[in-house]
Amino acid sequence: MPPDKSISHRALIFSAIGEGITEIKSLLISADTMATVRCLRQLGVRIDIENDYAVVHGVGLNGLSAPKDVLDCGNSATTMRLLAGLLAGQCFDAVLDGDESLRRRPMARVIQPLALMGASIVGLGSILPPLRVSGRPLHGMHYRMPLHSAQVRSAIQLASMYANSETTFCEHGMNLGRNHTDLMMEHKSNKISISGDVSSAAFFVVLGLLCAKEGLTITGVGLNPTRIGFLSVLTVMGGHIELRPMGMMNGEPFGDIFVKKSELKSIEITKHTLPLLIDEIPILAVAAAFAEGQSIIKGAAELRVKESDRIAAMTCGLSKLGVDISDIDEGMIIRGGRPLKGAILDSYGDHRVAMALAIAATAVVGNSIIQNSDCVDVSFPNFFEILTSL
Ligand code: S3P
Repeated sequence: MPPDKSISHRALIFSAIGEGITEIKSLLISADTMATVRCLRQLGVRIDIENDYAVVHGVGLNGLSAPKDVLDCGNSATTMRLLAGLLAGQCFDAVLDGDESLRRRPMARVIQPLALMGASIVGLGSILPPLRVSGRPLHGMHYRMPLHSAQVRSAIQLASMYANSETTFCEHGMNLGRNHTDLMMEHKSNKISISGDVSSAAFFVVLGLLCAKEGLTITGVGLNPTRIGFLSVLTVMGGHIELRPMGMMNGEPFGDIFVKKSELKSIEITKHTLPLLIDEIPILAVAAAFAEGQSIIKGAAELRVKESDRIAAMTCGLSKLGVDISDIDEGMIIRGGRPLKGAILDSYGDHRVAMALAIAATAVVGNSIIQNSDCVDVSFPNFFEILTSL
């Protein structure tokens, strides 16, 4: 699997403001992480990359310099939201922009808490990118997060390092989302190794459950508990899944996943489990389409503001394959088990929609065409090569 996207962004950003050289082994080389590399280079950080090995020449906490041009975050909300936090407390101004999809994504979620710390961030019509970040002295705050978002939490964590007093924040609900920033902040070495991305593995986990009579092993992927909620869901659905933990990599557990063709049953996914499987809903919708009975995904309004409206995109794609699926206010109802056949599908420029539909298309009778599938480059450039090799 390609290296983890979330950890790759954080490895780059924290190495950039670290003192001296950090070596990153198995950095994800994809459109999203290269956006972060580009922005950091514009901020005066030297980053040398050879294949997936990177050497970051850290400039220290206060060593970043004013960019000469707009910082282009491409399709990557992680880049934009984390850099908003990083740049809020600098002694220079910067502008963060992105592609058409990123320009539609909500930024009030980072603008508002950072403003409480004294930041000045102004977007187009106040809350959409491009964002002008005017560096200011920051102070700490106590913040109760109104929504679960690892990107927002990370932006606050980055800004808090530049604040002159303590920052505390809490999240409501039982399940905290991904904690890669916490783990990266605790990491004490100038060497970082990144395991395979379990969100990328999710596509092959479901493919294995649908098709692999003799089983399929996916090796060396991150098994951080805040990321593998989808494996619990698939197990409850009747999926044969075995986790084979191998050890730890900078505070992150990793290991192999073995899956085998299984008869799947329907499932109900509610708001409480969502932060633990937020990026896996498209592929879980595919699993539900092949499961017996009616599955419901509820309280998933966040999916409307991802790289695409993932509820609409998946409803459209799966219904073209013959799935009985409805787009409900904050989720989907999927009545699985119908005979399905190939069709012409569209990713809507969303990498996870493209890959989820490709797995569905692999498991149905007949050929499909997935339009706009180049977007897999965002997180998994060799996705189609690996799929073809199977
Ligand atoms: C990410 C957090 C999640 C996730 C995204 C990556 C991160 O977004 O969907 O793909 O690396 O912090 P939210 O913070 O909006 O939930």
